[in-house]
Amino acid sequence: MGSPGAGKGTLAVELAARGVEHLSTGDLFRAEIERKTPLGGRIKTALDRGELAPDELTLGLMRKWFWGRPAGRGFVLDGFPRTLIQARCFDEWLEARNEVLSACVFLELGEEATVKRLSGRRICPWDGRVYHIEHRPPAIEETCDDCGGSLVRREDDAETVVRRRYRLYLKKSRPVAKYYRDQGLLRFYDADRRPAEIVSDLLSAYQPTPTIS
Ligand code: AP5
Repeated sequence: MGSPGAGKGTLAVELAARGVEHLSTGDLFRAEIERKTPLGGRIKTALDRGELAPDELTLGLMRKWFWGRPAGRGFVLDGFPRTLIQARCFDEWLEARNEVLSACVFLELGEEATVKRLSGRRICPWDGRVYHIEHRPPAIEETCDDCGGSLVRREDDAETVVRRRYRLYLKKSRPVAKYYRDQGLLRFYDADRRPAEIVSDLLSAYQPTPTIS
């Protein structure tokens, strides 16, 4: 979990490379928008405004994923739960399947650093790879290293939208950090460090169990 652009996706991909299933609600939503379904239309309206997707809709998609997977297999969730309602509901699902969370990894970056960082993010619309013009530039400017596609900026990375996302994060997601802190599960990381350092700290505290052979 964490503030917008703190590096949740970057870190989750590193963990997924160690064989752990990775699911990002942001990616799930963008795929739904891409499919141009009625649900995708509702999600797009919220995301374009820098708002959260409605809880009932997020929980509907996540419920389908959660109950469709074999019980007892590990996973890394990126961007879920993001509200107290989602966190409480998720706890009920886990309990119903006799599963427990190992950790809630929380990354935080200040607002100005967030605006600056997200202005440099570029994504490949074809394979989803994430770049940064300073921190993780592609070999050829504005071109995906893997598939050669042209890189784009996410629409919600415009400064006014980023600031709105940040305010919403403070209001909705910080209470979730407290919720997990009270359960002794919170691992809080300063996101203004190199991704490799954060991954190394995280792995020395917690070894994810590979779920994909
Ligand atoms: P989502 O895609 O999850 O957006 P977000 O939370 O705002 O996070 P980002 O994807 O912008 O950033 P990130 O933390 O993954 O950073 P990244 O690794 O890309 O969700 C999109 C929207 O969907 C949300 O705004 C919300 O509306 C909605 N939504 C999602 N989940 C929801 C839920 N559960 N309920 C309701 N609504 C929901 O890194 C960012 C950039 O920085 C990249 O360019 C990267 O290369 C670079 N970078 C990463 N780490 C570092 C580092 N340590 N140092 C320097 N650069 C770095």
